[in-house]
Amino acid sequence: MLDIFTLGEEILTIKCKKVETFDSSLTLLIDAMFDSMDEADGVGLAAPQVGIDMRLFVVDDQKGTRREFINPEIVETSMDNVNMEEGCLSIPNVYHDIERPKSITLQAQDINGKTFKIKAEGLLARSIQHENDHLNGIVFIDHLSEIEREKMVKAYIRKNHLKKGSVQ
Ligand code: NI
Repeated sequence: MLDIFTLGEEILTIKCKKVETFDSSLTLLIDAMFDSMDEADGVGLAAPQVGIDMRLFVVDDQKGTRREFINPEIVETSMDNVNMEEGCLSIPNVYHDIERPKSITLQAQDINGKTFKIKAEGLLARSIQHENDHLNGIVFIDHLSEIEREKMVKAYIRKNHLKKGSVQ
């Protein structure tokens, strides 16, 4: 099982590097990410969350869509936004409504390096946008106002019994 990095770790704040090599070690990493996501009861997991500087994430929309997205790029977003509650395996035990586009079109590569496009809405669109943010060093609470974000960090510290001041 892969270790999941949490709020305060530098890897969660960087813009990740493009994946250039599609080989068996990439397949092994993706398999391990699916296992770790399942073990943690998550619906998505991005490479930086397991300490890896690569532009890739996996998602499971719990409706039969379970796939990897490598070098993803959101190429279209709907004009209408929706509020949906989000959480993150890297910020356990806290949740907050976040407003994002209702549907998106994503272009990405699969495990063989083949480029594809997917149009998504609902939970899948939400997971894709959340995970894609991780590749750019953004976590969901970064979408909140400074005051709301601070409240969330405090709640995160309290609920996970962390030391005060250990996380910014
Ligand atoms: Ni997350």
